[in-house]
Amino acid sequence: MKRDTTVLLDEKRIFKPNVETVERAHVKNWETEIEKGKNFEKYWEEKAEDLDWFERWDQVLDESNKPFFKWFVNGKINLAYNAVDRWINTEKRNQVAILYVNERGDEKKLTYYELYREVNKMANGLKNLGVKKGDTVSMYLPMCPELLISMLACNKIGAVHSVVYSGLSVGAFVERMNDAKVKILITADGTYRRGKIIDLKKISDEAMLQCPTIETVIVVKHTGSKIDISDLSGREIFYERLIEGEPAECECEPMDSEDPLFILYTSGSTGKPKGVLHTTGGYMVGVSTTLKNIFDIHENDMWWCTGDIGWITGHSYVIYGPLLLGTTTVVYEGAPDYPDPGAWWNIVEKYGVTKFYTAPTAIRHLMRFGNKYPNLYNLSSLKILGTVGEPINPEAWMWYYKNVGKEKAPIMDTWWQTETGMHLISPLPSAYLKPGSATKAVPGVDADVVDEDGNPVPLGKGGYLVIKKPWPAMFRTLYEDEERYKDVYWNQIPGYYKAGDMARKDEDGYFWIQGRSDDVLKIAGHRVGTSEVESAFVSHPAVVEAAVIGKHDPIKGQVIKAFVILREGYKLKTKLIEELNKHVRYELGPVAVIGDIEQVESLPKTRSGKIMRRVLRARELGEDVGDTSTLEE
Ligand code: PRX
Repeated sequence: MKRDTTVLLDEKRIFKPNVETVERAHVKNWETEIEKGKNFEKYWEEKAEDLDWFERWDQVLDESNKPFFKWFVNGKINLAYNAVDRWINTEKRNQVAILYVNERGDEKKLTYYELYREVNKMANGLKNLGVKKGDTVSMYLPMCPELLISMLACNKIGAVHSVVYSGLSVGAFVERMNDAKVKILITADGTYRRGKIIDLKKISDEAMLQCPTIETVIVVKHTGSKIDISDLSGREIFYERLIEGEPAECECEPMDSEDPLFILYTSGSTGKPKGVLHTTGGYMVGVSTTLKNIFDIHENDMWWCTGDIGWITGHSYVIYGPLLLGTTTVVYEGAPDYPDPGAWWNIVEKYGVTKFYTAPTAIRHLMRFGNKYPNLYNLSSLKILGTVGEPINPEAWMWYYKNVGKEKAPIMDTWWQTETGMHLISPLPSAYLKPGSATKAVPGVDADVVDEDGNPVPLGKGGYLVIKKPWPAMFRTLYEDEERYKDVYWNQIPGYYKAGDMARKDEDGYFWIQGRSDDVLKIAGHRVGTSEVESAFVSHPAVVEAAVIGKHDPIKGQVIKAFVILREGYKLKTKLIEELNKHVRYELGPVAVIGDIEQVESLPKTRSGKIMRRVLRARELGEDVGDTSTLEE
């Protein structure tokens, strides 16, 4: 990926912590906390004490069957109990838990007590459908209160959720449903996007034709569309009907610390998407601790993470982290620039958002409209800012720091992944910051940059990013694919977790993430697998073979560059280009942004038939192709 790496190498600016922010902070000294975290089992055990356990663990970490680690062994806990129930007998009972807002300006507030009642009703509704502990329930929903309620209802009764991002389309959706053999799906009539309503029900109806395991579809009437009962098929039921008359009380299922909590699909470099499996106790400890310390969450905060709940950022930091800490979480449905590029800043001002967490691509997008929009609003409530999803270029960092944070709110550049569940590399508010660096491993986590054999590389030199010790919110396996779990992450650099990113450390031990070391693309912060895009191309009748690489894009970070071999008689003209664009979008959804399609006669392959995308990338960027000894003649 061509990025401004020269700028990153030259970046020498350092920003001191803001005194007021540090005075307020739970953790006042970053370095001391990192030292404390070196005794990592003790560190995480202390953090686990902040949660309410039904039964205490008898061992913090069990490493006897590596890489299948266990945390808080034999502890019994329930996420919904900790995120909702335990607050209703405290002064938080009537505090707003969820503040839902959308681009039309509609808002809905749910206090902890109201949320408690809704979760219980839904949990009872699911039970009536026969959902039991360990069953998988899937959601294909917009950012709406019912999504959070349904996820918490699953937690309450011990069901495992598998949320599919509502921006993914039919092909991607079907693949995820069938892999997890989902029986119950919760969807909605539509979602608001840039003044339009995207018909989610239509997409899920089409997908359902190819999902034989689904027995029941629960439909949320979210956009007030006109669908009524006569539009539903025999296996469909309205959400409101399901919960009608259900008691607002429901017992929590005591979950073992290692019971599955959710599956979340993400893209790898080869093959089908990976079902990343997270379990209960450790995930809760890791997510609540990182949010508390990195964003310094206090109960009167107005927390806003703009990530979609369909991705890990939303799971960990829109819903679970904030509710486990008993703060207010903003749930926003819509685009960042609709009705105008001041939409987000308007929300910050209107609700007094105190901590704001978003993606570099959104910052770069909003930056294009200049300082005018952030300057139109009073953003003085903002105390801490954050970014996630891809490396942030220093220019965007500076814009965010000056125009949004007014040089008072420090930026937490958090590096982590679907697999890691929680932030692993990030500053705390008391850290010295360098624009473009995610700084150091969070307290209690051990990260490094190594060569292929696991030896640390000299400071300043690039290498593979690895995590050297287990961490509580780590995923436990890939759904029904233990071999792939071991091969992809643990067997490549023995003893360490290989993250799939390249990085370097500077003379202060700060990490500079350089991007993926595999064939995974990052388009507007979304993870898109090259092989998924290639299969989408090949499923079009005109395409015989396809290879895709990431191409630099100033706003989205990367977009797709596709090389296609066409069937005889086809030519890559405007009409076919349009058709291919439409087709790939239909299969994968708007996340698959195509920048360029090129017709080729052949593709570079190894003798065993694997496409050498590295060769295509080097040719595209005019760089040295490197070792081509395995290239087929
Ligand atoms: O390449 C890294 C990039 O996002 C990847 C993980 O993507 P995903 O599982 O979709 O999770 C994204 C949200 C947690 C990583 O392998 N990435 C994430 N955060 C950063 C980042 N790259 C650089 N800096 C970050 N702060």
